[in-house]
Amino acid sequence: MLIRKMIEGDLAEVCSIEQETFSDPWSEEDFCNSMREANNTYLVVEIEGMIAGYCGYWGICEEGYIYNVAVKKEFRRHHIGYQMLKELINDAKSRGIASLTLEVRISNEPAILLYEALGFERAGIRKDFYTKPKESAVIMWLKAIQQFPL
Ligand SMILES: CC(C)(COP(=O)(O)OP(=O)(O)OC[C@H]1O[C@@H](n2cnc3c(N)ncnc32)[C@H](O)[C@@H]1OP(=O)(O)O)[C@@H](O)C(=O)NCCC(=O)NCCS
Repeated sequence: MLIRKMIEGDLAEVCSIEQETFSDPWSEEDFCNSMREANNTYLVVEIEGMIAGYCGYWGICEEGYIYNVAVKKEFRRHHIGYQMLKELINDAKSRGIASLTLEVRISNEPAILLYEALGFERAGIRKDFYTKPKESAVIMWLKAIQQFPL
C-alpha cells in the first residue's frame, strides 16, 4: 500500500470512486481546481497500481478542514481509511496546523467511528447541512494535533 500526493493523472479513478460513493459527487474539474490551490493537500492510496482511496484537506491559519474522504467499496474495512487519514494528520502537523475539523452525515456511522478511532470528537450539529437527501451534519474536531502520535 502506497500513500502519496494525488496527481491529475489519478483523477479518472478518483472521480469514478467519487461517483459511486456520493450523491453529489465532485467533477474532475472541481478536483483539478482545488488541487491547484496552494493551501490544499490531496492524498491517494494506491494498491497494486489501483487507487483504493483518497482524501483532502484545506489548511489555513493553523486550522485544517478535511473533505472528500472515501475508500473504494471493495477495499473497505482494511484500515485503509485509518492509515490514509493518519498520513493526512501527519502532513498537517508538518505544515504547523494545530487542529483539524470536518462535517459528516449524522447517519454515517462507519465514518464517525473511523474519525473517533483517530481521536476526533463530536462538537455539534449543523442542521440540514446536506442535500440529496437532506440531513444534518455532525461537526467533529481533532485538537492539538501536534501531540498526535506518529
Ligand atoms: C468511512 C470510510 C472512509 C472508512 O474507510 P475504511 O478504510 O473502510 O475504514 P477503516 O478500515 O480504516 O476503519 C477504521 C476504523 O473505523 C471504524 N469503522 C470503519 N468502517 C466501519 C463500519 N462499516 N462499521 C463499523 N466501524 C467502522 C472501525 O472502528 C474501524 O476499525 P476496526 O476495523 O479495527 O474495527 C469508508 O467506509 C467510505 O469510503 N465510506 C463512504 C464515503 C464516506 O462516507 N466518506 C466520509 C464522508 S465524511
